[in-house]
Amino acid sequence: MEIVLFSKEEGIAQITINRPDKMNALNKAVLAELDHCFQRALNDSEVYGVMITGAGDRAFVAGADISEFSHYSAEEARSLSAFGQALFRRIEESPKPVVAAVHGFALGGGCELAMACHLRIATRAARFGQPEVSLGLVPGYGGTQRLVQLVGKAKALEMLCTGDPIDAGEAHRLGLANHVVEEQSELLPRAHAILQRMFLRGSQAVAGCMSLVNDFFRPDVDGYALETDCFGRLFETDEFREGVGAFLEKRKPNFRHKS
Ligand code: COA
Repeated sequence: MEIVLFSKEEGIAQITINRPDKMNALNKAVLAELDHCFQRALNDSEVYGVMITGAGDRAFVAGADISEFSHYSAEEARSLSAFGQALFRRIEESPKPVVAAVHGFALGGGCELAMACHLRIATRAARFGQPEVSLGLVPGYGGTQRLVQLVGKAKALEMLCTGDPIDAGEAHRLGLANHVVEEQSELLPRAHAILQRMFLRGSQAVAGCMSLVNDFFRPDVDGYALETDCFGRLFETDEFREGVGAFLEKRKPNFRHKS
């Protein structure tokens, strides 16, 4: 059985973590295959957006595979954390938008994977949490950093230090979930629809927005200066000429024939 599935429809790649009997827990093989599928989506010029989801009806991803790391040394644990962090950073820094479609449990590494994506769409049955303290651990794939960015310090500390999950309604109120749908059948269509909205826009401008928002959280750079650079650079693109030309000619822009 393939542990991560890749499919493509109308320019959107769907990556499905496929270990439903283990709640789609992230073992090393899943991480490697997820990495491979993600690179495939990035390298495919027909793909403009990516959805990441979990197979089955119980979990997006219920975390790193606990049975796999139960006997790790400190060194092995550090190396696992570094590998997962690097992969999730590549997702966060992707120039193509990535949406997490979350149904059921998004715990530990599952919550961290969802947070590395640009947007999260959840079903009413979704549960987000960082339960690592119950295992005597802290999150290892960026959870302590991205949760603060998304929900703020007070709520992040509560979630991290109690280990208790939150439901979809609360995730939505906190800004962790962008949208909540009632049924699982609505989840992928909603994620698809949001990516299609982005497809209608200038792709270099969309990539610029995602990169600049990430820059806000980098202490080593001046986000305002980078915004100025990006703003100027885009004036030299065909997409800019098309977007402004279309506005002045009172027609809809067609960015997809422009590079
Ligand atoms: N790692 C490895 N296996 C996992 C797993 C994980 N993170 N999460 C679930 N599984 C496995 C279970 O061991 C079980 O396997 P088995 O049928 O071979 O025994 C299977 O998935 C189903 O899980 P189960 O615990 O029986 O389902 P449940 O409905 O009673 O509980 C959860 C669901 C998600 C609440 C529970 O599985 C859980 O707490 N998982 C761990 C979450 C976690 O701590 N994640 C952070 C890891 S760092």
